Amino acid sequence: MRAFPLFLATLLISSTTLANAAPQALSSAHDPLAFGPDHVNAGVLASGRHGMVVSAQHLASDAGAQVLAQGGNAVDAAVAVGYALAVVYPAAGNIGGGGFMTLRLKTGQTVFIDFREHAPGAATATMYQDASGKVIPGLSTEGWKAVAIPGTVAGLDSILQKWGKLSRAKAMAPAIALARDGFILNQGDADLLHTSTRYFQKDPYARAFYLRPDGTPLQAGDRLVQKDLANSLELIAKKGPKAFYDGPIAKEIVRASTEGGGLLQPADFTSYHIRHLEPIRCTYRGYTIDTAPPPSGGGVALCEILNILSGYDMHALGLHTAPSVQREVEAMRHAYSDRRDLGDPDFVHNPVEHLIDPAYAYQIRQGIPTDRALSSSTLRAGEPLPAPVAQAAPDTQEKHETTQFSVLDHDGMAVSATYTLNGWFGAGVMGGHTGIWMNDEMDDFSSKPGAPNMFGIVGSEANAIAPGKTPLSSMSPSIVSRDGKTVMVIGSPGGSRIPTITLSVILGVIDYGLDIRQAVDLPRIHEQWEPSAVELEPDALSDETMQTLKAEGYALSPHRPWGVAEGILAGRPSLSAAKTGLIYGAADPRHAGGEAVGE
Ligand code: DON
Repeated sequence: MRAFPLFLATLLISSTTLANAAPQALSSAHDPLAFGPDHVNAGVLASGRHGMVVSAQHLASDAGAQVLAQGGNAVDAAVAVGYALAVVYPAAGNIGGGGFMTLRLKTGQTVFIDFREHAPGAATATMYQDASGKVIPGLSTEGWKAVAIPGTVAGLDSILQKWGKLSRAKAMAPAIALARDGFILNQGDADLLHTSTRYFQKDPYARAFYLRPDGTPLQAGDRLVQKDLANSLELIAKKGPKAFYDGPIAKEIVRASTEGGGLLQPADFTSYHIRHLEPIRCTYRGYTIDTAPPPSGGGVALCEILNILSGYDMHALGLHTAPSVQREVEAMRHAYSDRRDLGDPDFVHNPVEHLIDPAYAYQIRQGIPTDRALSSSTLRAGEPLPAPVAQAAPDTQEKHETTQFSVLDHDGMAVSATYTLNGWFGAGVMGGHTGIWMNDEMDDFSSKPGAPNMFGIVGSEANAIAPGKTPLSSMSPSIVSRDGKTVMVIGSPGGSRIPTITLSVILGVIDYGLDIRQAVDLPRIHEQWEPSAVELEPDALSDETMQTLKAEGYALSPHRPWGVAEGILAGRPSLSAAKTGLIYGAADPRHAGGEAVGE
């Protein structure tokens, strides 16, 4: 019997060996998110003097580093990465989707940009239900009816105009070249494409680019050339967001939508607008965390969990021991229960101040036992004390079809961005001859209050569909700072798991002294209130710890690896290491092909 997971044992023996070790093989070679042999910098803790760019695709990270080398700042580099990922990581990188960015300017001011999608004007609360009120499977996840109005172009362009130093043409040049000249697929790229061959075979516009001439899937070593996408990007580079929202691109997308039975209209595009919001801010052991406010429920959950855990000495309880996991799981359970009633702040009132109030966390702690599991069914949103309420247990499947990129420059300007098409290749439809994959973000609404979405998240009335409304998200791009300086840039895809992935890296660095590579690699645990189960990545816990937790009433559920966190730590590789002044970065080895590139 294995007494102690290899991973944790390694951490205890040496805090530096792991950084140079090959990651463990945790899953099958066909799994696009598994540790893979061609992971370009597996085990490497990258460093840079002038900046750091971390993303899930090495060519996109290179694009960002190139822009930094040309004198661009973190915003210029982030824009370059955002457009490049739409080309080289097309399953999730996008201009046909949307997302969030947390920015920290060199003045220390933090800003949150919501460039998430909006429901089209013709959307209705019951559009995914049949006449008897039953949710029609697949309608909100596949095909044109699943598509919401994209925000990525508006989001990237707005930060470039406001805080960038370089021209749009310069920031977009790497993406345009990658689309026009193509790039050679590595195994990680090919694995991602292979998740969605059926879409490429079905979509008349995608077929020409995404399959070999004989109609078979592209393979590692093949070149992916995307001429239509290159044309769209060039148009945006020349004419700006107008080309996308009030020009030929919107026109072609609307045409393809109408042809495919979708609802999109020109006015949906011309009325699209991004929002600049105040980030949610909480503190944890002297560090400040700026993260995503609603329409994300992720930042609220992250801060609520951190607030609850700040009352425990997590370091003394130990890394992934039964007592520390028990506290973490109960904090997660409460935070996910509270997340259920959040929605678009332009449409509903969200009790954010209450949920992230340390006094509320204190009250919650009073109700958390330290030797047994609470029952999820006893929790009521926004209330610290258990009270009975029945909840249906939905199915949950993990998804990873979103992507994070993190950038920090030598002036301390930081960008943490998470954007998405929602499912791999979104709704599986291309916007006609634009070469742009369209999102299926409509699934993040509650198709029916009480019914779970694809992440098993149960929604409430607050997240019901309405024209122009933004669906609730879990994305939580975050920036940690202290004494006026950026310390960490972090975020991840992972659907409902995003807040707990981000939490895992933050706890690893702050409570357990891990370097950023180790904290990103650290096997994760997750509980999301409903369905109630403690999910565990392979080797997350020792057998003894699992036995103790089971005896305390926890249902443990082993799970394949999840999330793709991209992390940066400023000034030293870990908080306990001597200051070097370098910037350190780690791409998550759970996906083959990402890279941290220092400048
Ligand atoms: O906004 C959200 O929460 C989801 N659309 C994110 C999807 C996601 O993370 C899928 N991949 N892991």
